[in-house]
Amino acid sequence: MNTLSQEKINEIRNSVNIVDVISSYIPLTPKGKNYFGICPFHDDNNPSMSVSPSRQIYKCFSCGATGTVFKFIMDYENISFMEAVKKVADLGGISVNIGKIQKKQTHKELHQIYDLSLKFYINNLNTKAGQEAREYLKGRNISDDVIKEFQIGLSLKHDTLSKILTQKFNPDEVLKSGLIGKNDYGYYDLFYDRIMFPLYDLDGNPVAYSGRIYNKKDNSKYFNTRETEIFKKGELLYNYHRARDIARKKNQVIIMEGFMDVIRAYTVGIKNVIATMGTAVTETQAHLIKRMAKDIILCFDGDEAGAKATMSCTNELLKIGVTPKIIRLEDDLDPDEYIQKKGKDAFQRKIDNPISVMDFKLSYLKQGKDLTSSVDQAKYISEIITELNKIDDDILKDLTIKKIATEMNIDEELIRKHLETKPKPIIASKPKPQIQNDKYEKAESALIYYMLKSPEVITMYNNKVTYIPNKEYRQLAREISSFYKNFGFINEADFIDYLECDEELMKTISKINMENTKEEYTLEEIEDYIRVIKDYNVKEEIKRLTNKMKTLTDPLDKAKIAEEIVGLKKGV
Ligand code: UTP
Ligand code: MN
Repeated sequence: MNTLSQEKINEIRNSVNIVDVISSYIPLTPKGKNYFGICPFHDDNNPSMSVSPSRQIYKCFSCGATGTVFKFIMDYENISFMEAVKKVADLGGISVNIGKIQKKQTHKELHQIYDLSLKFYINNLNTKAGQEAREYLKGRNISDDVIKEFQIGLSLKHDTLSKILTQKFNPDEVLKSGLIGKNDYGYYDLFYDRIMFPLYDLDGNPVAYSGRIYNKKDNSKYFNTRETEIFKKGELLYNYHRARDIARKKNQVIIMEGFMDVIRAYTVGIKNVIATMGTAVTETQAHLIKRMAKDIILCFDGDEAGAKATMSCTNELLKIGVTPKIIRLEDDLDPDEYIQKKGKDAFQRKIDNPISVMDFKLSYLKQGKDLTSSVDQAKYISEIITELNKIDDDILKDLTIKKIATEMNIDEELIRKHLETKPKPIIASKPKPQIQNDKYEKAESALIYYMLKSPEVITMYNNKVTYIPNKEYRQLAREISSFYKNFGFINEADFIDYLECDEELMKTISKINMENTKEEYTLEEIEDYIRVIKDYNVKEEIKRLTNKMKTLTDPLDKAKIAEEIVGLKKGV
């Protein structure tokens, strides 16, 4: 989260001109007071995006995208707010040390415990006791360089690490690390005789291990650190910190199941790779992935379990408006095996020729069905329709419909008839234009539009509006009012940065901008909007009271409420 002061962020924003920065990404041409260009956030050929040098914000009249220079860079480069701030600071020649500031001082001791354990494990691998493990790694074609890069180590028998750690640190804290246990005889190591692969948090700090057996039969191939205060499995991705920048540059990220797969790909020079580590992808992870690159490729194991995992990961990504591409490997191979067996070039060809999500789903759903039987045919088609309804990509949808119609010899229109026409609950990555006909919503939207421009309107809101019915507008209005209370002025650019480009609130701002509300207002108009909002509240209250009256039996109670209703109606 934001660790820089609001003043510092303003200073950084003011150190550059939004027009210069945006024109380093897209061509802009001056027209009147503003500059115009083709919006990069939706498909377009018209210059719908305007950039205002006086207000230091941009706005797309077609898709509603809006924000300050930070928001533009965030969305264009798929990076976080603070990363965008850092970029702009660099451009403006202002020095900020966000990396250092951001690093939490919390859990400091846990991090120190991990740093020490890492040194210990790495060292073990180089000792005499590590010979067999070194041979195992050699046998798997893992070079010394790779061992070094991925900080691979070795745990030993018994209680060596627990002794070191409990002597140096508070034993209770060491117990929290998930590296040691305690029984009647004292402390003992939880990992022993396993090759240790460190797992890192998003900043690249070691926060857990996956330990692999190498010299014995055991029921679990990998033993993992349990979740701790610094290790939440569903919030990180293996190799994220190494792959992030290169994935952004290439605008492509490849997702695998196992960290051994990632290590192999990395070894042959394919470095924009991360792993989910064999568990279902969480919503948090999906958002991380979305931020990394536009082009997202799933390359899970070639076996049945891998196909199933591909299906579930795909659906998690579709939910947040991301349509990944898919690679399937033959002969049940995993990426590690594939690269070793068929070579880097063959694997690179796979990456260059992924299949579409729908092609993958078609072949997945076909499995185990007898498509000569009409029962299975009908089932297949209905399953495909369900899948079609999950995707956002109109072109892909259309292509798939045509494909199925030909393949199954049915009418395209028949399929189309079964598709949902209403807007899907999927949140698309870009704000979609929304037309509001509701006069109440129009009033709310217009009121907020002017609040963003004028302290006078904020004051009127503060004095006269008790409650804005629509939740998203209500939140935004409250934020504007509290911004004004804190800073004593209002300015859209400063306000947007103050929100740190909060996704939900930004969406609401886009929506309000899409209303094409005129620039100037009169006080009567504002009074009017406020009256409309009040009317709405009164009507709602009348509705509520009427309903309440129906549930009452006591005539006296009824009369009391009726009186209240009459009073309210008078006011309308
Ligand atoms: P895999 O079984 O595909 O691992 O599990 P792998 O990469 O092929 O491993 P090697 O090549 O046999 O060494 C994929 C991921 O699932 C997790 C690990 O994170 C692994 O990378 N996993 C697997 C476990 O946590 N425990 C297990 O027992 C197995
Ligand atoms: Mn595997």
